[in-house]
Amino acid sequence: MHQQALTHRSYWLDTIPPGEPAPGPDGDLTVDVAVVGAGIAGLSTAWELTRRGHGVAVLEADRLAAGVTGNTTAKLSALHTLVYDRLRRTRGREAARLYARSQSEAIRAAADLVAERGIDCDWEEAPAFTYTEEADRLPELRAEAEAAREAGLPASFVTETGLPFPVAGAVRVTGQAQFHPRKYLMALADAIRGAGGRLYEHTRVVGLREGEPCVLTTEAGVRVSARAVVVATHYPVFDRALLFTRLSPRRELVVAGPVDAARAPDGMYITPEGSTRSARTAPLPDGGRLLIVTGEHFTPGTGGDVEARFGELGAWAADRFGVDRLSHRWAAQDNDSTDTVPLVGPLHPASRHVHVATGFGGWGMSGGIMAGRLLADLITGTPCPWSDLYDPRRIRPVVREGGHFLKHQAQVARHFVGDRLLAPARPPADGLAPGEGAVLTVDGRRCAVHRDDDGQLHAVSARCTHMGCLVAFNAAERTWECPCHGSRFDVDGNVLQGPAVRPLEPRDLGV
Ligand code: FES
Repeated sequence: MHQQALTHRSYWLDTIPPGEPAPGPDGDLTVDVAVVGAGIAGLSTAWELTRRGHGVAVLEADRLAAGVTGNTTAKLSALHTLVYDRLRRTRGREAARLYARSQSEAIRAAADLVAERGIDCDWEEAPAFTYTEEADRLPELRAEAEAAREAGLPASFVTETGLPFPVAGAVRVTGQAQFHPRKYLMALADAIRGAGGRLYEHTRVVGLREGEPCVLTTEAGVRVSARAVVVATHYPVFDRALLFTRLSPRRELVVAGPVDAARAPDGMYITPEGSTRSARTAPLPDGGRLLIVTGEHFTPGTGGDVEARFGELGAWAADRFGVDRLSHRWAAQDNDSTDTVPLVGPLHPASRHVHVATGFGGWGMSGGIMAGRLLADLITGTPCPWSDLYDPRRIRPVVREGGHFLKHQAQVARHFVGDRLLAPARPPADGLAPGEGAVLTVDGRRCAVHRDDDGQLHAVSARCTHMGCLVAFNAAERTWECPCHGSRFDVDGNVLQGPAVRPLEPRDLGV
């Protein structure tokens, strides 16, 4: 029987691939607002501003909705694992209420847009669950159900989830949604263009000067002047507020395959932190359902045998849902803020015209849409009830989120300083088998060396161009990953994901 090959890209990018790229600006530009990054946060911000009559240019280094947003699991839920009990304990009941309202209004705004414009994006209303199979975690889930209900969500504690296996208990929130993110965002991009917004692809911004106006410089040397700037590049590429000390990158694997209707659950599911498994389904063109499973998270560059991790996830999908053939596999990347609340607002304490949206954890769909409204309100001087909740200036590290902050900084220091001091034995380049990669010391310099399937060596500097940490090889994805802040590079050093904006320098191995 013919077995369809496993596609190493997301289902969303596979079914709606990027078409002809929109050209970059052909000369200097002046606009009201420049948005850097065309994921869901950037495009949602651009939409909110264009529909309010502002002139907007979106500058995307790669392709629209093809980075982190193109690799999401695309759940639109206000239930974010166990956020409400934590929020009411750390920031109070009003903060929990505002969080619930802001996320719920984002989902409603997307639903309204889909209905108004007739967007065909596989939109489905579905309940969201945080579930556990471990009885000793039930008190946490009961507390979360109570906190989420108190925050205003239609939440309850349940033991029936629709999953084809028993659970100890779950928090259920009804009336949430799931969709095809690229279908939605391609329609949103059309709407932005239709309202006069300009979208530029393959336009990497490499410089930002805040002022009146702010001036952005692209890699091609084009200057973009704007009254306000939004940095929506997932991990912020410009960061004078040192937000990178308050964000931890997390890579998470995803597998997908057709699931039998009898075992296809109706909702969206996630387990609490620590042993994360997440699942949802999506409609297939043939009328069947695709199961999408996420898990096996790790700090980029520290995933060990990532191939084996994909195997674990596939085995879990087979065991729990009877999925006997995977059609797709890919990886998502998230940034966790120190207090698990996104950072949306002024880029740094003195900033008046430059804003940022980052730190959505695993919840960038509702978070990105929420950020679009919040940033449009800030830029247009419109009061927003939850601007303080998400204000990036709120965090006083060490004092408030000391444990998380110090742990992440210790990890960064280890990769930044420790990797320079420790010099473990390195195999010579001729010891690399096809598909392998390693950091080698060549003429006293650290080189990131990969041998491709044809036997050719690819050698680049192993120093990340963001702040100089050593990159590490991910053999399953054939990428170099930086453990400090999550930058990713292809085997020839090209930037796949920031905050780095410059490629790894080529190295000559002299072979
Ligand atoms: Fe910051 Fe590499 S991403 S040093």
